Amino acid sequence: MEVLLAAAGSAAAELLAVPVAPGTSVSMAAAPVLFALLAAGPAGATAGWMAAVVAAWTGSGGSDFWSRAVRLTAGVAFGTAVWGVVWRNTAAAATAMTVGMVLGDAAVLCVRHGARVSRALQAALRRLPVLAAGPGLGIGLVWLREEFGPLGFVLGFLTVLMGLEPFRVSGEQVVLLRGGMRVIAGAVDAKDPDTASHSERVAALAVRLARAVGLPEDEVEAVAAAALLHDAGKVAVDARILRKPAGLSPEEWEVVRAHPVVGQEILSGIPGMDRIARVIRHHHERWDGGGYPDGLKGEQIPLHSRIIHLADAYDAMTSDRAYRKGKSRDEALEIILREAGRQFDPVLAREFASMLQRGGADRG
Ligand SMILES: [Fe+2]
Repeated sequence: MEVLLAAAGSAAAELLAVPVAPGTSVSMAAAPVLFALLAAGPAGATAGWMAAVVAAWTGSGGSDFWSRAVRLTAGVAFGTAVWGVVWRNTAAAATAMTVGMVLGDAAVLCVRHGARVSRALQAALRRLPVLAAGPGLGIGLVWLREEFGPLGFVLGFLTVLMGLEPFRVSGEQVVLLRGGMRVIAGAVDAKDPDTASHSERVAALAVRLARAVGLPEDEVEAVAAAALLHDAGKVAVDARILRKPAGLSPEEWEVVRAHPVVGQEILSGIPGMDRIARVIRHHHERWDGGGYPDGLKGEQIPLHSRIIHLADAYDAMTSDRAYRKGKSRDEALEIILREAGRQFDPVLAREFASMLQRGGADRG
């Protein structure tokens, strides 16, 4: 009976996982799995875990399956091990499960996003309240089961799932908003066949760098949005000018140089986008003050703009154009390191180079 309840509960929790950012969501599956561990031992926990993993795959369509599966697997493994060692101690098992989920979360950040171990742990620890909620609730479910029988478990757990509903809806809206941003970015990139998917690649690189320097996840989100839309102002630039390999007239050059300001103007019309709009305005500023539109210098330039500037420059250098072949990763990184302290923020430039050397792949 306990095992059935737990398997159904963990599957339902995974299917109703709450998106916390595009590509990552959390579920309450840890609660029924911990319940199964406490009520029916490791076999029960395994059954709950298996139901959750299958449901996670079905529910997410595989998109953030690995982060959820690794987190839960690490949680179940730690929880079960400690439950066995510290003789059936509820609090110890719940704590161990939480620790396992934090470590699993950090492992995903390291392996899939190339973050440094210490930074990944910091980011995972910041999610501790969310990760601890499942095991904490598991203790509550055990108590409800003891006090009120199986119906207590079912009603308690349904209440929690319903309570999460508003968060799930707002998370889905964030994902929808990101879809709209991608459409705009795609329209900009489509103006020049040479720059297809440029905005997507810049966003992926900027996100990796933001995580590598340890920005919290909400800041990483802001970087992602601004990077995706960094060239939105190019909608106002004639495609013929954008496709010209070289030899722009001073007037044409003026039009191109206006794109960060135009981008800011377009986006600042959307409520809540002011900060992202400001980041976009400054994505062509240089560390030494020689950039545009405002000639800002050093740390006057918003950090997010400095991150996007690096990702943008790297992608431009390594992409093929109709009139030239793209540089190799090492050639591009050599230029970036040479320009550290001139064009680029020196600390970020070094972090960027070591991130790409560590991560191997040059794209996203
Ligand atoms: Fe740009």
